[in-house]
Amino acid sequence: MKTMPETMGESDVIDLLLAQHAMIRDMFDEVEQAPPDRRGEAFTRLVRLLAVHETAEEEIVHPYARGKIDGGDGVVEDRLTEENEAKQLLQQMDQAGPDAPDFTENLAALRAAVEAHARSEERYEFIQLRAHTTEAERRGMAAGVKAAEAMAPTHPHPGTESATKNVLVGTPVAMMDRARDVIRQALGKKH
Ligand SMILES: [Fe+2]
Ligand SMILES: [Fe+2]
Repeated sequence: MKTMPETMGESDVIDLLLAQHAMIRDMFDEVEQAPPDRRGEAFTRLVRLLAVHETAEEEIVHPYARGKIDGGDGVVEDRLTEENEAKQLLQQMDQAGPDAPDFTENLAALRAAVEAHARSEERYEFIQLRAHTTEAERRGMAAGVKAAEAMAPTHPHPGTESATKNVLVGTPVAMMDRARDVIRQALGKKH
């Protein structure tokens, strides 16, 4: 399935993140096109995908970019501000629910914010990161992102839910917190 970041093949972290940006755009299409009775579950899948993608960037890619690219701290701070704005919108939409009268309007605003953020990453962060890192470093980061995402699957296989413990449940903030916990575990970091 094209919206499962945990099964992606890209071995270079930049290629991997670009492919995830495309996946996020597809997931927005799915939510927009979902019939009203499927909209809530499509939105939940979008939130899971954004939770693992943004959290993997925050834990693995942005810290690396800070040290590697010109003006890295400023570039990363700008990206974190954008990510936090999107998270607030996600949280508001989750609280209002998929039947809220302004759901479509908020979804359009969220999409615009998330896509502008992805373009800024591509332009101001990823191009420089590719230029200032070795292939081995980028492979290492991709392995970290994939290991992290495998621990927080967006689509646990039916019947294995208890084994994989569908960790991404609850509100968007709860999902992001859980994604951060498992990513730190995958990286062998203390909480
Ligand atoms: Fe991001
Ligand atoms: Fe991104």
